[in-house]
Amino acid sequence: MSTSGEEPDRYAVVGHPIDHSRSPVIHQLFAAQTEQNIVYEPIDAPPEAFETAVRGFAAAGGKGLNVTVPHKQAAHEISNELGPEAERARAVNTISFLPDGRIRGDNTDGIGFMRDLTETLEEPVEGRRVLVLGAGGAARGILPPLVEASPATLVLANRTIERADEMIGDVDSSENLATSTFAALADEPAFDIVVNATSAGLRGEEPPFPPACVGPDTLCYDLAYSLKDTPFVTWARANGAREAVQGWGMLVEQAAESFFIWRGVRPNTAAILEHMPR
Ligand code: ATR
Repeated sequence: MSTSGEEPDRYAVVGHPIDHSRSPVIHQLFAAQTEQNIVYEPIDAPPEAFETAVRGFAAAGGKGLNVTVPHKQAAHEISNELGPEAERARAVNTISFLPDGRIRGDNTDGIGFMRDLTETLEEPVEGRRVLVLGAGGAARGILPPLVEASPATLVLANRTIERADEMIGDVDSSENLATSTFAALADEPAFDIVVNATSAGLRGEEPPFPPACVGPDTLCYDLAYSLKDTPFVTWARANGAREAVQGWGMLVEQAAESFFIWRGVRPNTAAILEHMPR
């Protein structure tokens, strides 16, 4: 923190619910590490109050917001200017209030996910068989960079297949891309990388994916994170995955990219990740 006596710049994360969010802690750690004078708070806003919360925070002098479930598509809609990743994902997780009062929307989820997958976990995507489970807001951010990383095959599977078809249609067309129901995955050979972008299993039921998706060489990655094993991580280990990880690394990396957009300074994520569960 700066000791200059100046007022800190204000940032926040807006979501619903928001109690579970680790973003305030992560951004305060980044600020301490890089000596940036900021404060960062959680804001709980249900969907009908989202836009008022955003504009109210800007009016009170806020500099930027992280946006989480369920507001990422609404944030895309109210942005006056979009970064290329947000434009492709049609979802925004990072808002910056520009000096002229306009709202800039970026999406750092894909960058954060790819950094964790390919740099921290050292898992290549090129030429591999990749399965993404789920076609909601969480899948939107990670699909474009995954496709760009040239997997041999990328299958997007969803309970509601129409949603997967629509999402694939938004991404650059590629013959390596396909959609599937969960049931049809049982006829596929095991995948090299399986990413869970659904909220299935969070209410205590067994995740509804065929065990055949997972083999002894499979890395399973859950975009969700929890202090104990997530249902998907438990399911993946029970089905013999080589490795099963939660999304803590993605959380920290997407936060670092947001921090860089706002402050122009890149925090050291490795120092923070050492204190996170896996
Ligand atoms: P998020 O922003 O977290 O992705 P979302 O847009 O509501 O939230 O998407 C949730 C995802 O989890 C969707 O892919 C959803 O499947 P549908 O598109 O068919 O609704 C999936 N999902 C949620 N509950 C599920 C369950 N019990 N079984 C299978 N898929 C589920």
